Amino acid sequence: MLNAVGKAQNILLLGGTSEIGLAIVERFLIQGPAHVTLAARRDSPRIDAAVAEITAAGAASVSVVDFDALDTRSHPAAIDEAFSAGDVDVAIVAFGILGDNEKQWHDQGLAVEAASVNYTAAVSVGVLLAGHFEQQGHGTIVAMSSVAGQRVRRSNFVYGSAKAGFDGFYTQLGEALRGSGANVLVVRAGQVRTKMSADAGEAPLTVNRDDVADAVYDAVINGTDIIWVHPLFRYVSLAFQFIPRQIFRKLPI
Ligand SMILES: NC(=O)c1ccc[n+]([C@@H]2O[C@H](COP(=O)([O-])OP(=O)(O)OC[C@H]3O[C@@H](n4cnc5c(N)ncnc54)[C@H](OP(=O)(O)O)[C@@H]3O)[C@@H](O)[C@H]2O)c1
Repeated sequence: MLNAVGKAQNILLLGGTSEIGLAIVERFLIQGPAHVTLAARRDSPRIDAAVAEITAAGAASVSVVDFDALDTRSHPAAIDEAFSAGDVDVAIVAFGILGDNEKQWHDQGLAVEAASVNYTAAVSVGVLLAGHFEQQGHGTIVAMSSVAGQRVRRSNFVYGSAKAGFDGFYTQLGEALRGSGANVLVVRAGQVRTKMSADAGEAPLTVNRDDVADAVYDAVINGTDIIWVHPLFRYVSLAFQFIPRQIFRKLPI
């Protein structure tokens, strides 16, 4: 359980090599050492660096659980293994793929992969995490959503449509867990400087992963259920809802 100064005992990162996810874990480790479980593909070329990064950041211990988002049948065992070290204080759902939208909407295989990783797999682990969190009666699921799902745009609609579903699922999972003692924090991030967005060109209100980590840490401590990073996206996303399609399609976004 998080103590009064926000120190965790046990942190789970799904998407164990995610740059944003690792920054969030490191932000919690500033409060003191914790056991960290990285759920990641064993063959990820980034897993050794992720373990080293988290160890250097002060983790008490780090374990790796084999996790392939596309293999939903393996998820129950992976999540059970992640909880075998005891209650999880913070579970971060941070796996995802952006991909090339123009290739994705012309290629059924690429589109299904993007939808499966960004939506189906997220629902799969969300259900499993909720079961554990409801039982333990405390803790926070941090769900990495995106402003791309707030009003889906032509430029990245394969990714954005999956994130719209992701956002709806985790927002309402939080409602379903209300009163259980466990919380869901939905993080609606704009562009964040990581390898995922490296080819996208710098958009307005782009932030660093540490900005996301600081905002997530504060929100978890305060029991907030939705945040926007950059915070101005709260108002930008709202304004987008009211722009007619004929005008929206002409915006350079
Ligand atoms: N960066 C942004 O601008 C931005 C903005 C809004 C929201 N987000 C969301 O924030 C989250 C983290 O993004 P990030 O910037 O940290 O991206 P990242 O560094 O590219 O991390 C993506 C993670 O997803 C994992 N992954 C991809 N496919 C997988 C699969 N089939 N099975 C298991 N793991 C898989 C990757 O693992 P491997 O090492 O095995 O590839 C990696 O750990 C994502 O959900 C993303 O959609 C990002």
